[in-house]
Amino acid sequence: MSRLEGKVAVVTGASKGIGAAIAKALAAEGAAVVVNYASSKAGAEAVVAAVTAAGGRAIAVQGSVAKAAEAQALIDAAIQTYGRLDILVNNAGVYAMALLADITEEHFHGMFDVNVLGLLLATKAAEKHLGEGASVINISSAVTSLSPPQSAVYTATKGAVDAITGVLAAELGARKIRVNAINPGIVETEGTHTAGFIGSEFESVFVAQTPLGRVGQPQDIADIAVFLASDDARWLTGEKLVASGGLR
Ligand SMILES: NC(=O)c1ccc[n+]([C@@H]2O[C@H](COP(=O)([O-])OP(=O)(O)OC[C@H]3O[C@@H](n4cnc5c(N)ncnc54)[C@H](OP(=O)(O)O)[C@@H]3O)[C@@H](O)[C@H]2O)c1
Repeated sequence: MSRLEGKVAVVTGASKGIGAAIAKALAAEGAAVVVNYASSKAGAEAVVAAVTAAGGRAIAVQGSVAKAAEAQALIDAAIQTYGRLDILVNNAGVYAMALLADITEEHFHGMFDVNVLGLLLATKAAEKHLGEGASVINISSAVTSLSPPQSAVYTATKGAVDAITGVLAAELGARKIRVNAINPGIVETEGTHTAGFIGSEFESVFVAQTPLGRVGQPQDIADIAVFLASDDARWLTGEKLVASGGLR
């Protein structure tokens, strides 16, 4: 049975990587999905094509979540096209490593604007459309407990995501809106390839410390997002699910 039939989802940053896998997985369970992207139009359109080819419903919507008007327009597009909103996946994120000595204002604001402000702006725009049974899923990171060197700013953004998840779970709980986080370990995506993590010594060290002995794949995270979006997770809110093959 399709667990998300009749529901509408917005997935931010869904043109590639984890977001693309989540968008396809939500659609496969029956949700109509808004596939947001910042710059990769072709990637977003490929996700929409894959969803529709499988018999699902999806549209691509451009917009940076870091801009209030664009975050609002993204949510407006979901309402105009599908008439409701049940699931918001705050996945859009950027990451860059830097030693303390190399941290700049640009490095700081580039990550905080998307990973923290963008999450707040998208959730703020979505809030009034969400009702009983709605699910907000924040893609955080296992870095918040692993504390890898050279990640002070990125880890700080995800620490903020963990904190915001708890606060919004408390704030929106009275309206029966659930807010949870998924904290992935390293996942093989376009982003981790471009950043040079995949194939690096950094990856080898992480895999060696991972009980299940591999890096994650986007589908590993997408399946958890489907669970959190569904009524199967009706008693979970304010949780941070570490999805890392056991790496702690
Ligand atoms: N991969 C990992 O190992 C890992 C581990 C833990 C947590 N995470 C988190 O998981 C999320 C996805 O990571 P990923 O590896 O899949 O990343 P990715 O492959 O680099 O994809 C990032 C996505 O975010 C979008 N995006 C970037 N800035 C945006 C903005 N301002 N507004 C809207 N969309 C924006 C990109 O859109 P465009 O392509 O159009 O620019 C793209 O769709 C991030 O929040 C990341 O921090 C990743």
